[in-house]
Amino acid sequence: MTRIGFAYNLKPESSELSGPTGPAAQNQIPGDGDASRPEEDPPSTTDDEFAEWDSIETIEAVAAALGEAGEVILLEANEDFPERLRNERPDIVFNIAEGRHGVNREGHVPAICEFYGIPYSGSDPLALSTCLDKARTKETLEYHGVKTAAFTVVRSMSDVSAARSLSFPLFAKPVHEGSSKGITERNFCRTWNDLQVQTAFLLETYSQPVIVEEYLPGAEFTCAVLGNGSEARVLPIVGMNFESLPDGALPIYGFEAKWIWDRPERPLQMFDCPAQIDDSLTKAIELVTLDAYRVLGCRDWSRIDVRLDAAGTPNVVEVNPLPGILPNPADNSCFPKAARAAGMSYNELIQSCLRFAADRQNVALSEFMGRARAA
Ligand SMILES: Nc1ncnc2c1ncn2[C@@H]1O[C@H](COP(=O)(O)OP(=O)(O)OP(=O)(O)O)[C@@H](O)[C@H]1O
Ligand SMILES: [Mg+2]
Repeated sequence: MTRIGFAYNLKPESSELSGPTGPAAQNQIPGDGDASRPEEDPPSTTDDEFAEWDSIETIEAVAAALGEAGEVILLEANEDFPERLRNERPDIVFNIAEGRHGVNREGHVPAICEFYGIPYSGSDPLALSTCLDKARTKETLEYHGVKTAAFTVVRSMSDVSAARSLSFPLFAKPVHEGSSKGITERNFCRTWNDLQVQTAFLLETYSQPVIVEEYLPGAEFTCAVLGNGSEARVLPIVGMNFESLPDGALPIYGFEAKWIWDRPERPLQMFDCPAQIDDSLTKAIELVTLDAYRVLGCRDWSRIDVRLDAAGTPNVVEVNPLPGILPNPADNSCFPKAARAAGMSYNELIQSCLRFAADRQNVALSEFMGRARAA
């Protein structure tokens, strides 16, 4: 039987969660539950430190799916991970670990697997670290001619003047974060003064460079990609329904929408899947998504955010090679939602990612997976 190591980071205290029904409940970022406060204080770096780690519910669901494909060895990506991996030597590691420290944190588990010569699922350390740096991601996209909003990187306030070459309104965000850490309505800058105030705030609060980019005013989509090479495909596109946000809210899927307004007792109807768009826009979005996936070196799976510019052309906003995969359909997790729209169960999604990883590295999977593929 195939021995599958499962690498993850468990969110602190998440085993105490009871009956979570929304991201706000699952991720324990404090919000005050008042849906009418776009001026909510942005998160501090400590409030949302573990926002990207997984809950016990997700970890159990993934382990159950992997359990149908082999013997699962739980490998929490803590300090003991390297030693445990070395002792266990699984045939393959299924990796969802977001990592512990530093800007290369998502690359640590894959790098350790590479060090020991153990196959693993998903993107390599270079792709993971590149995608966690929104500026490096956009440089790579631009170099390869994949459409993305014009931008500049501000490392200290003396760099802000470089933004003079960009057209307002602008949007500012911390360069290394995910899960909308540090992305609130205040990041939308209409004026030079807005930009200076918000950039100074982000530099100070997040202690990292700030990316300033042209604001994309059009519709937004997120695209789940599964597979490699010519087998890579975009699952049904998820469209964002900004009309579900409180009146007057900026049409973005930022911190307020993810963690304050989307309450378990009052969930936002944020997503349409498949998105209600015509064939030519669907094709254009799929094309830019697969181009981004390819040029960034993504493997097995990724979720790519796309937004339309003023001309209606799809632009890549960012690439997530470790997609969120909350198992409960009530949780509004986009990758599993897209998989469901494609007729795949949660287990099939996880097993499909595992199969792409195994095929690419010539790892033989157990009997069950052979049958699943033939079916
Ligand atoms: N240039 C832009 N123009 C318009 N809106 C933007 C732009 N960049 C980001 N946004 C808005 O902010 C949201 C969050 O930005 P982004 O996806 O880069 O952050 P993230 O925190 O990494 O997200 P995720 O939770 O998907 O990891 C986007 O979904 C989009 O609604
Ligand atoms: Mg995003």
